[in-house]
Amino acid sequence: MIAKTYLHALALSSCLLAAPAFAQGVNLYTTREPALLNPVLEAFTKDTGIKVNAVFLKDGLQERIRAEGANSPADVMLMVDVGEINAAVDAGITQPIKSAVVDKTVPAQLRPDNNWVTLTKRARVVVVSKERVKQDAITYEDLADPKWKGKFCIRAGQHPYNNALFAAYLAHHGAEKTETWLKAVRANAARKPGGGDRDVARDIQSGLCDIAIINTYYIGLMSQAKNEQKGWFDAIQPLKTTFAGGGTHVNVSAAALAKNAPNKDNAVKLVEYMLGDKAQALYANGNFEFPVNPAVTDSAAVKLLGAVNPDKLPLSEVAKQRKAAANLVDKVGFDN
Ligand SMILES: [Fe+2]
Repeated sequence: MIAKTYLHALALSSCLLAAPAFAQGVNLYTTREPALLNPVLEAFTKDTGIKVNAVFLKDGLQERIRAEGANSPADVMLMVDVGEINAAVDAGITQPIKSAVVDKTVPAQLRPDNNWVTLTKRARVVVVSKERVKQDAITYEDLADPKWKGKFCIRAGQHPYNNALFAAYLAHHGAEKTETWLKAVRANAARKPGGGDRDVARDIQSGLCDIAIINTYYIGLMSQAKNEQKGWFDAIQPLKTTFAGGGTHVNVSAAALAKNAPNKDNAVKLVEYMLGDKAQALYANGNFEFPVNPAVTDSAAVKLLGAVNPDKLPLSEVAKQRKAAANLVDKVGFDN
């Protein structure tokens, strides 16, 4: 999720020469929000005695670490979205994590070559009008069904969340079928693709659309809202959403070890801590995400939405198709 305000723990100018200021503890660079991370970081410090220096960035994390070069104080990066994470790996600013805890806790599909490690999963699912649509499951493929004509709502096709979903579709079905599907899905749209994920729930409540796509954590956040969003939540019904013969599309939040981490041992300790029962519950429940640790079964997301069965397609395969998916979105005029 995108927050309106971010803290900058230190000024860029000091950071460029700042390795000594960070000599102790562990230095974390993240695009996640302070309110979500701070409870986990405080627990880590309390349990291990290791101080965390957190740099909260709205964006430009990768560019900043690249600019800092060999003297970068960054030890750990915490990011969202497989595209962003792979871009960091491709930029050469990460190093593989060697950790028995990581290997034991995280399925191999969710930590490609240990260049990054999934911490939580976020599913992208279909929701429908509770009142007007009576079904409890759907495939992504079925979104092309003309029965949804004029009833489908979605944010921009070029948004990273949809780009990842479309890239997964492409990895499953190839370019020709994906183009046909995208055209048909766009033809079903009730309005121009745009806005945010929560807006599609608003548009279901208002009657503008009957069916839409949304990330699961927004459903959870709306369920707890004290404003009009609670009404949006009450208007929608999440469907069990899968690829035909496959699983649900998930994206991830993940940790990566910085290539020049000056506090590497502490960095690995932080990543291992974040995979433990206590941290997984704190971190995942804070944003209704699904814990990656299979031992943590009692999560807020599972209670609200049931367990998610992630698609078996490796996320590294999905990432490879992102550019092609973006090109297809332009080709069919999805966002026009
Ligand atoms: Fe989000």
